Amino acid sequence: MSLQPIRGTRDILGDELRQMRFVAATALRIVKLYGFQEIETPVIEPLAVFARTLGDTSDIVSKQMYAFQDRGGDDVVLRPEGTAGVARAFINNGLAQNIPLKLFYSGPMFRYERPQKGRYRQFSQFGVELIGVDGVQADIEVIACAWQILRELKLDSRVKVQINTIGDQESRNSYRTALVDYLRGHVARLSEDSKTRLEKNPLRILDSKDEGDQEVIKGAPLFEKFLNETSQKFFSDLQNGLKSLGIPFVIDPMLVRGLDYYGHTVFEITTEELGAQSAVIAGGRYDGLIKSMGGTQTPGVGWACGTDRIAMMVKDLPSETSPIAIVPMGEVAEQKALKLAHELREKGLTVDLGYSGNMQKRMKRADKVGAKVALIIGDNEIAKNIVVVKDLAKGEQKEIPWDQIYESLVPKK
Ligand code: HAM
Repeated sequence: MSLQPIRGTRDILGDELRQMRFVAATALRIVKLYGFQEIETPVIEPLAVFARTLGDTSDIVSKQMYAFQDRGGDDVVLRPEGTAGVARAFINNGLAQNIPLKLFYSGPMFRYERPQKGRYRQFSQFGVELIGVDGVQADIEVIACAWQILRELKLDSRVKVQINTIGDQESRNSYRTALVDYLRGHVARLSEDSKTRLEKNPLRILDSKDEGDQEVIKGAPLFEKFLNETSQKFFSDLQNGLKSLGIPFVIDPMLVRGLDYYGHTVFEITTEELGAQSAVIAGGRYDGLIKSMGGTQTPGVGWACGTDRIAMMVKDLPSETSPIAIVPMGEVAEQKALKLAHELREKGLTVDLGYSGNMQKRMKRADKVGAKVALIIGDNEIAKNIVVVKDLAKGEQKEIPWDQIYESLVPKK
């Protein structure tokens, strides 16, 4: 049996990879407009970076982490997301002096999930974290940044921005009490997962996909009734800010997100085009995260986009530079062609060299690589110190002296 990649991982090539690179390059261009600076954290981290911070009962920590002991006996994890690693790096590198700090990152993440369309065990995220700003303008700015990326990719009409608040700690505590009281009365109808969460993380029950849970949730008390004044104001300021920037959004009162570090703002940008995997960008505010990891109290807000998922939605890729094909016939011509290709590339042109086969085969290759022009070199041409420059679209050809090749390909402005 031939070797296969691990389930949920894949070799990415061709158009799929070009789409992913296009998404990442577009995101990069836009986050730069907002002043985000790049950070690269390790793909492998100590278990403790994620275990408590994301929450023991979160899906990621309870069932999706690639966690193992390394050969030295240390508990390590292939990172399942980027935020906790950035928070660790923030503390370790003494970045508290540099707030407000805008960081972005991209790279592979790992989650042991059931693979399906748009859901992989190794996937790519591009994310931003705006650290050190208490005010809601940070939340508005990061959502605006995500929206601008989607607009730039021409996907804005195919996605929906969903926002919600899960309030500050005080609001969450009072809501939690009311929610648990209510759910206890319906415990028999809850799924096993939700029963476990009832004591530890009842809020998560709100976004359960289980049909029985959904029925129970319909009658649950609404979070908005338990928001204190600060939380209410924060959320209404967020909405006003988004409106003033012309960013369309809907409020989803059941949106609570799967990670424990959030408070106040949570949001997801979703699509109906990828089946069950609807979120293409997701994030929120995490004011308690850095302190919970041993740093000084520092607020933060950010998001991560699933690059693989957004790439699946991108249809029009920018066209690639079409190469100039060099088609040599004969050994001497091949040597000359190699040198010519080298010189033209040094001058910044894209060149494809026909390696072998008869004339027809080499011309076919020129076509296949999308060349518009072919430079044909045979014994005859060498004797006359010229090349034949053929316009592949029109079929026209002319003879050009060897020392004028570059000029003939790049007309002077
Ligand atoms: P998340 O919602 O877990 O948030 O993931 C963010 C995005 O990553 C998802 O919306 C989705 O597009 C993509 N994603 C997640 N899992 C997979 C998968 N198995 N296959 C393909 N794509 C996937 C976070 O990771 C937070 N760290 C976001 C954040 C940043 N919050 C604040 N700052």
